[in-house]
Amino acid sequence: MTVTSGASSAAKRGIAAGAPKHFLDIDRFESADLRDMLELAHAYKRGEAAPGGLRPAAGKTLALVFEKPSTRTRVSFEVGMVQMGGHVTILASQGSQLGRGETIADTTRVLNRYVDAIMFRTLSEASLLEMVQYATVPVINGLTDKSHPCQIMADIMTFEEIKGPINGRTIAWVGDGNNVLGSWIHAAAPFGYALRIACPAGYEPDGAAIDAARAAGADIILTADPAAGAAGADCVVTDTWLSMGTDGGPSAEDRVAALTPYRVDEALMARAAKDAIFLHCLPANRANEVSGGVIDGPRSAVWDEAENRLHAQKGILHWCLSA
Ligand code: CP
Ligand code: NVA
Repeated sequence: MTVTSGASSAAKRGIAAGAPKHFLDIDRFESADLRDMLELAHAYKRGEAAPGGLRPAAGKTLALVFEKPSTRTRVSFEVGMVQMGGHVTILASQGSQLGRGETIADTTRVLNRYVDAIMFRTLSEASLLEMVQYATVPVINGLTDKSHPCQIMADIMTFEEIKGPINGRTIAWVGDGNNVLGSWIHAAAPFGYALRIACPAGYEPDGAAIDAARAAGADIILTADPAAGAAGADCVVTDTWLSMGTDGGPSAEDRVAALTPYRVDEALMARAAKDAIFLHCLPANRANEVSGGVIDGPRSAVWDEAENRLHAQKGILHWCLSA
C-alpha cells in the first residue's frame, strides 16, 4: 500500500502544507487517511514490510508525556516505537518540571528541539491544543477529558478482524458518556457505522459532538434505556464508571448508583445480535460496568483489543512520521 501525504485531511483541518502530521481527533481526518493508518497497522501485525521498510522510525525519538496514569498506552507506544527502530523518552508530571509548574508551551518548545514526535495524555483538551500551538513535530492525542482516538483505532481494527467491515454495522455504547465514547462519536461518520448510545440522565456525551457527527452523516441514537441501546447490536462497548480526573463531578457513590442499571452483564448481551462481540478499553472493574461472565466470556474481544493498541499505534506513528 501507499501512504498518502495526508493532504486531504490537512486541508479539512485548515492546516498549511508542510505542517506536522498531528493525530488529534478522528473527526479531523478524511476516511482515506484513517484507512491508510489501519492498513499499516494490519501490515505491521502480519509482520510485513511496511512502506519505508520495517524500521521506519530508525534514529527517531518519541516523547511520551503523561499527566495521568497509563499501562496500555505507555507500553504499546514504547514497544511499538522500539519495534519500528526508534526510541522513546517518558515524562510524567511528577518527576518532570511540568509537575512544578513549567508551562506546556515551554515544555513543547524544548521537546521540539530533541524529539521527532510527542504523545500527550492530558487532563484537559485545552492542554493538548496548547501543545499543538507550539509543536513543530507531530503531536498524538493519548487521551484527554474529551477523547481517546488511539483506542478507537484499535477498537475498529479489532471489530473488523472478527466481524468484517464496520461500515453499516451497529455499535452499542452502554454506560458513562465519557472520553472513549467521544472518539466512538467522532469515528461514526468516517467509518460509517450506526452508533446507539445508552446513558443515564446527567451522564450523556457532549451534545455538540453528536450534532457535529450527525452533520457529517453519522447515524447516532441516544437513549436512556440500556436494553434498547444494545438491541440487535453487532458490538457492545462500555468503559469504567470512574474515569481518571472525574473528581470534580458527581461522587463515586452517585456515579455507581446512577450507572448500575447500565452494567453490561449476560442478560444485556443477550439483547445484542447472537454473534455480537464485547469491547472494553481497560482497565475494567468486574464489580461495576461489566460482569466477569461477559468480559471473561466467549464474546469478549478485550485481549485482542488490547494487543491491537500496539499495531494501531504503529500505524498511527508511521503515518505521523512519514513525510
Ligand atoms: N485503554 C488505555 O488507554 O489503557 P491505559 O490507561 O492503561 O493506557
Ligand atoms: N475513560 C477512562 C479511559 C481509560 C483508558 C479514563 O479516562 O480513565
